[in-house]
Amino acid sequence: MSKYITTPIYYVNGEAHIGHAYTTFIADTLARYERLKGEDTFFLTGTDEHGQKIEESAKKAGKPTQEFADEISATFKNLWDEFGISYDKFIRTTDEEHKKGVQKAFEVMYAKGDIYKDFYEGHYCVSCETFFPETQLIDSEFCPDCGRTTSVVKEESYFFRLSNYEDKLLEHYASHPDFIMPRSRANEVVNFVKGGLRDLSVTRTSFSWGVKMPKSIGDDKHVMYVWLDALLNYITALGYGSDEAKMNYWPADVHFVGKDILRFHAIYWPAFLMSLDLPLPKHIGAHGWWTRDGEKMSKSKGNVVSPKEVADAYGVENLRYFMLREVPFGQDGDFSQRAFIDRINSELSNDLGNLLNRIIGMSGKYSDFEIDSVDVVKYHSKEIEQMNLILDSLDVFLENLQPHRYLEELWKLFAIGNGVIQEYEPWVKMKNGQKDEALATVAVVANILAKAAVMLHPVMPNTTNIIADALSFEINTTSYKELILEKKLLKLFNIKKVPPLFPRIEEPLMQEAPKVEPVTATKKEQSSKKQTKETKKENDNLIEIGQFFETSLKVGTVVEAEEVPKSKKLLKLQIDLGEENLRQVVAGIKEFYSPDDLINTQVCVVANLKPAKLMGMISEGMLLAAKDEDGLCLIRPEKPKKSGTPIG
Ligand code: MSP
Repeated sequence: MSKYITTPIYYVNGEAHIGHAYTTFIADTLARYERLKGEDTFFLTGTDEHGQKIEESAKKAGKPTQEFADEISATFKNLWDEFGISYDKFIRTTDEEHKKGVQKAFEVMYAKGDIYKDFYEGHYCVSCETFFPETQLIDSEFCPDCGRTTSVVKEESYFFRLSNYEDKLLEHYASHPDFIMPRSRANEVVNFVKGGLRDLSVTRTSFSWGVKMPKSIGDDKHVMYVWLDALLNYITALGYGSDEAKMNYWPADVHFVGKDILRFHAIYWPAFLMSLDLPLPKHIGAHGWWTRDGEKMSKSKGNVVSPKEVADAYGVENLRYFMLREVPFGQDGDFSQRAFIDRINSELSNDLGNLLNRIIGMSGKYSDFEIDSVDVVKYHSKEIEQMNLILDSLDVFLENLQPHRYLEELWKLFAIGNGVIQEYEPWVKMKNGQKDEALATVAVVANILAKAAVMLHPVMPNTTNIIADALSFEINTTSYKELILEKKLLKLFNIKKVPPLFPRIEEPLMQEAPKVEPVTATKKEQSSKKQTKETKKENDNLIEIGQFFETSLKVGTVVEAEEVPKSKKLLKLQIDLGEENLRQVVAGIKEFYSPDDLINTQVCVVANLKPAKLMGMISEGMLLAAKDEDGLCLIRPEKPKKSGTPIG
């Protein structure tokens, strides 16, 4: 039987961040696991390179779009190569075969009557590459998904008859309860479909950076909608529409996606496939989002976690372990160095690393590094049984996309290994002349470590190869079969010394993220709980201290200032708040200050306001100022203070 596992294809408008690495690690782990079991596995990743967003990013970077896409796509591919990601194909939507496949799919859907031409008028969010009906907009203007301003677009468009697939989709969800995993995510999709599906605009005329229409249709001013183009990558990668030799891998076993793009994969994609008369993927695995130290990551906050930086500091396999172990699949997770270091020190270094070192040390002393399983069953049948029970239970966790549970259970093996040493005290046995028993204890631990290494291999491939090498075997399908399925024990061997695999970490190895605001949940709770209606009335305008602290005030240094053309009031400032990136603040102070008055001076900034758009420009803060009949003056610190110093 073959297996087909995919990641989303990543937009080429920025470099990879930790969220991209997370999906890729999970998919890589599953692909490696299937290969270990001997399954013929195809693992696909790649980049999504068309659409208005990419066209605009290239323009901003002052580069031809293809050149821009080539460069960013290469950063993803290089990073995955550096991380040892075991993809079988890295697809790019600018590949010729992909474009051919998309055109063929369009023709098939068109011939079937599922695509027709009409006009579209709607609110379009460029960032999400999606139209939204007015009813879904926030304040009749902003995108309900990302909060950015939408623009009204009226254009001729080809439409896909998504509405025809409503019932078929609902039937599919009902008859395949594991289509969307975890199941808890299925409701939102089912409700969305039950709410009624509108036909989907699948071409654009307002820009040209997309797959061209098929020649047979000949409507040159249209290009394909980026999501139609992108979703089809899962079959064009197998040769759909070009050389179809690999189509035997279809349908996919799992498409891994983030929760934000579940709707595209669980509604549009199956509808497209039904139209193409192709079977549907078996599962869509939707994971949650990562935050950093409890904060949403964003470029403007300067707190985006770069997977390369983390891997350089802590090691890529430690990162894989942490990300898969830390978060139940489907839920949001938080990246903090503290939590990461704790897991490295306690689980990797103590539980696993020390166990290996202990048996290397003991076997060196007791038997000149020779380990023999001959007496293991005689003295440790209880531990063998416990170990086998755990090993038998593991498969289900990965098959159900629960890597955190898989690792949690797997770690029980190390508890057995550490426990058996504690209980049997081989050093005492050696003193008492019970050498066979002491060596059996060392050997049972070696077997536990070997089997654990096989099962941990998909998550930490290189580290487990080092462990296996120390234990004189190789991790592959044969050893998986013998040690895990057939429950064989290790043959007589000499254990090798290894350098410490997981040195303890005392201090964070990377700079911490810039602090965003001093508000704590308790302060928030205190202020809201205590504010009963009565006290509110009595104190009228008084606030609790917690309410004051909800505002993050900081000292900032104005680095750049310029007038906003065509505005009487606005100046655009770039302010240093001690964060990685400057903050842009658009302030209504032009009548009172010229840009030169401001550059290199200090101001007081409200630093935790939601970003707002003023005359089309993002403003990420507000300046404190006082205004009376004589005019306005900025509030400034009495003496120079470091940029970012909190005010309170
Ligand atoms: N190009 C589309 C996918 C097309 S698939 C046919 C896309 N690209 S993306 O680069 O914006 O996002 C790729 C993946 O990264 C998505 O699955 C998204 O959920 C995930 N993440 C983006 N930010 C994330 C976090 N902060 N945390 C976890 N995953 C996140 O969408």
